[in-house]
This record gives sequence, C-alpha cells and structure tokens, in this order.
Amino acid sequence: MIDLPRHNAHFCAEHLQQLCRRQMAKAVDDFDMLSMEDRILVAVSGGKDSLAIWDMLVEAGYRADGLYIGLGIGEYSTDSGGYVRRFAEQRGLTLQVIDLRDDYGYDIPTASRATGRVPCSACGLSKRRLFDRAALQGGYDVVVTGHNLDDEAAVLFGNTLRWDIEYLARQLPVLPAANGFPKKVKPLIRLTEREMAAWCLVRGIDYVVEECPIAAGNKHLAYKESLNAIEARSPGAKSAFYLGFLDRMAPLLAGYSAAAAGQLNSCERCGEPTTGDICAFCRLVEKAAVHDPVPVEMVLSKRARKAYS
Ligand code: AMP
Ligand code: FES
Ligand code: ZN
Repeated sequence: MIDLPRHNAHFCAEHLQQLCRRQMAKAVDDFDMLSMEDRILVAVSGGKDSLAIWDMLVEAGYRADGLYIGLGIGEYSTDSGGYVRRFAEQRGLTLQVIDLRDDYGYDIPTASRATGRVPCSACGLSKRRLFDRAALQGGYDVVVTGHNLDDEAAVLFGNTLRWDIEYLARQLPVLPAANGFPKKVKPLIRLTEREMAAWCLVRGIDYVVEECPIAAGNKHLAYKESLNAIEARSPGAKSAFYLGFLDRMAPLLAGYSAAAAGQLNSCERCGEPTTGDICAFCRLVEKAAVHDPVPVEMVLSKRARKAYS
C-alpha cells in the first residue's frame, strides 16, 4: 500500500500503476506530446523518473530508445551509467551512450573550472545540446525527459520568486520542433517524485538513489523543500500551483515567448542554431577539452562537500 495524501487515498500496486498510466496519458493527450508512430528518444539519467518514463512508454506500446550521457561526475556517473545499461539489457531495449570524456575530451567538473560556469550550468548546456544532436542525427521525432511535477513546480517557484518572465514564458511541457531543434516533451508533469519512486518499486526497477553530489544544497532543492512543506500542510497545493500555471497563466505569456524568440544564426563550427557566431557549446568544448582534468571534489560547494563526505 502506498499513501498519497494529494489523492486522499491509499493505493495497492495495481491501482498505483493505473494512476500513473492515466496521468501520463492525460499529459500526453492534453499537450499533444507523442503519437504511436513517433520514434522517441528518452534521455535517461539512471534516476527513478527517467527509467520509469522509459518503462511506461515501452509498456504503452511506444517506440522508445534510450540515450545516456556519461557526465564524468565521479562515482555518481559510474553508478548511474550502470543502472541504465542494466535496465536496457534486461529488457532488450536500444540504448545510445555518449561519454563526455571519451567522445568530447572533457567532463563536467573540468568544464566548470575551464569556463567559470557553475557546474550545473555547464552540465545543463552539455545535456541540452547533446540531446538535440542525438535526436536529429538519429532521425528521432521527439526527445522525452523525466522531469516530474516536483521538478517543474520547483522551477516555476524559482522563476516566480524572481518574476523571470522570459523563463516563465518558456516553461512549457512541450517545446515544438523549430529552428533546427527537435521537439521536446515532459510526459511526467502530472506525477510526483513519490509516485515515480513507487512505480519503480512495484515494477522492480533498480535506480541510482543518490542525487548528483554537485547539486547538493543548490537553490532548486531548497525550492523543492519549501514546496514540500506547503504540500504537507495543504495536500494538492503543488499540483494546483503548477497545473494552474499551465492552464491559466502560460496562455497569457504565449505572445511574449514568440516575441522573445528572435532570429538565430548557424554556428560557424557545428552549424547548430545560435544567437552569436559560435555557439555556447562549441565554446565550452574548446576550453574544456584542453584543460587538465579536474576531479569532482574540486568543484563541490561547501554545502555539497559536507553532504558528499
Ligand atoms: P536533471 O537535470 O538531472 O533534473 O534531469 C532531468 C532529466 O534530464 C532527467 O529526467 C532525464 O530525462 C534527463 N537527464 C539527466 N541526466 C541525464 C544523463 N546523464 N543522460 C541522459 N539524460 C539525462
Ligand atoms: Fe548536472 Fe549534477 S547532474 S551538475
Ligand atoms: Zn557550435
């Protein structure tokens, strides 16, 4: 039995699966995310959410392959890669693996040090660019990520605290294919972290439980904790906050997002879309690949170092 206060109910394994399947199907339908003919590339980190969504899509009959990016974040990356590989092997699924160190000559700690970006920013940029590239080169129609309701509500909370209108206007669960970018969708926006952990439990999916050591203590986690405190007092508040935004606020910002899109050029190095001459990813690779490798311990914040040791 799993207790889900926001639904005011306890669920057995079978009903929990039904709830998850229904909520995923509703998100997919409401936002026209996927069709049965699509060739889907699921970005899988080895964590519960992305392995669960891959499992759910395959179970529902979608044609879904996986993509794992080895980020070179010490033991955390070695472990998470192992979970993804085992998941794919056990189920006979197709998995593409990109290793930043082997394929591009750098890793996230080194990129962070070489560019002066905070690690999560170097990481986000690398992942986004490699998801897009792998999807376009592999002839996929759409990229799926495992962002869940807790993730999206936390990002929305941060964007709202800063009234960052540009980010708010782009915080949508579907980004259509445009300007050389593939379509990207988040089918888990109606499901929580707790529900995805329960899905993995009842489906026998092993996943990496530790969080990325670099992310420990970052703002995103603080927003999650604040929302959890509100949710504990007022079950359902989190989904009302995020789903209400999609329903009532996002449409008001639609014009803003179109106006902000602007004109894009092709990167002189890789040909991919950029606002300047050379894209941010090519600039990152150029600096990071010639830098001496930096171990993960060197880029942890004080808070993260405490959590890591
Ligand atoms: P995060 O940015 O870690 O919150 O992850 C958000 C989503 O990005 C996950 O649910 C995955 O779909 C995807 N993702 C994160 N890390 C990786 C990775 N190393 N390889 C492939 N996909 C990833
Ligand atoms: Fe990207 Fe931790 S997963 S910095
Ligand atoms: Zn480029």
